[in-house]
Amino acid sequence: MLCLCGSLHGQTKRRVRAADLPSWPTTEVEFDRSLAEIERQANERLRDGENDHLVAYILQSSQFTSEPKIEPAISALEFVRSMPSGQRAGYLAGRLQTPPVRLPGDVLRRMDAFLRTKPRDDADERIPYFHGLVAGRGKPYLIAAYMRTMRFLYQKESGQQLNRPPVDLYQERGYASDTQVEANFAVWTALSVLHLIEPRLAANRILIVGPGLDLAPRTGFLDLFPPQSYQPFAIADALLALGMSAPERMLVHSLDINPVVVRFLQGFPGRNKKTISLVSGLRRVQLSGDFQDYFRNLGRKIGEETALDLPAPLASHLGKSIVVRPDVAHNITAEQFNIVTERYDTSPAYDLVVATNILVYFNEQELRLALANISSMLRPGGYLLHNELRPEIETIARELGLVAVQARTIQISAGAGKPLLDSFVIHRRAGP
Ligand SMILES: C[S@@+](CC[C@H](N)C(=O)[O-])C[C@H]1O[C@@H](n2cnc3c(N)ncnc32)[C@H](O)[C@@H]1O
Repeated sequence: MLCLCGSLHGQTKRRVRAADLPSWPTTEVEFDRSLAEIERQANERLRDGENDHLVAYILQSSQFTSEPKIEPAISALEFVRSMPSGQRAGYLAGRLQTPPVRLPGDVLRRMDAFLRTKPRDDADERIPYFHGLVAGRGKPYLIAAYMRTMRFLYQKESGQQLNRPPVDLYQERGYASDTQVEANFAVWTALSVLHLIEPRLAANRILIVGPGLDLAPRTGFLDLFPPQSYQPFAIADALLALGMSAPERMLVHSLDINPVVVRFLQGFPGRNKKTISLVSGLRRVQLSGDFQDYFRNLGRKIGEETALDLPAPLASHLGKSIVVRPDVAHNITAEQFNIVTERYDTSPAYDLVVATNILVYFNEQELRLALANISSMLRPGGYLLHNELRPEIETIARELGLVAVQARTIQISAGAGKPLLDSFVIHRRAGP
């Protein structure tokens, strides 16, 4: 059996060079300097993203306190609105990083409870992970993380209230590893469309860029199970269900900048129990019929399905577990990788690259680099799927020979007057 073992068939990752991008208007020295700056910022954004998760965990988890859960977006609005206006302006401009600002009492109580918690063997594995992140720096560290996280959230939420989606905010914020089962519905729909467009297409070599992990998301937080990644399993299942691959040929490789995501995926095939637990973030009645059909069949081609006993607050949500077959699990691999600054030498010639909810984090320069790296790793005639409708993506991708062939918006739930939508865009790399 083939093994992807970190790099594909001996391909090794390497840093991008100016010569890889002949149309890049810069000298080699300047190129290396901007790459070094992108790498520096990526490390900061990774650290900021993990601190955002730390704050989301402290506000919402029931594993270390019986204090009521705090909704992060509401906390952000209350926190900022409680500030005197002079202080607020300085805080939102990023000048005020630490108190004199007074933090809400319920937030401080949860921080104290978290710091008092002693990691136990039977406890949620997130607790030792987040204690490791705090690394003994105590409450001042938590307060600084809370203030930074709340600034972004306030800007995002208040922008939404003014009907101004603050798209660009994402290009500066920390890298969140958030992922939900729902994100894979758009990929399933896109693959079904791709199968109709090109019925003979075989997708055996698949790359997932940024598969994510549900460590401690800000919305849809759930710590019933240890952190999980879903996308590699959902995509493997979709390709088998559509007949676009077969278990003995399918290789699903993932690249993620976050080592916690990569560790989960690398450790999965060696687990005694190769189980993935799937729970919808929304109640069944809110979900579209198409999504419910999708969820019903999800996982059946990669393993055995078992029922999931969900606690009362989640009783109206869809849920099930999948015990993944070892042959499938062993062909799901991962490597730590920055898609903006790295690529494989020589090209692994993937049939399909999937990158959802990641391109939103990249500014135009980063997008150009990321798309060039993705294109270099696709075979001619291979496909890229993403869910980002930003117009510059289509332009940059076209310049790189990745022509958009289909795009759609899909509905996951009707919601209460606010439908939950996702989208997909399919690009084809020019070639035979
Ligand atoms: C918001 S999550 C999306 C997860 C999943 N694709 C989904 O749609 O649910 C974004 C993922 O991209 C990863 N990521 C962000 N920047 C990256 C980069 N420059 N290179 C590789 N991975 C990156 C993050 O670590 C995270 O796991």
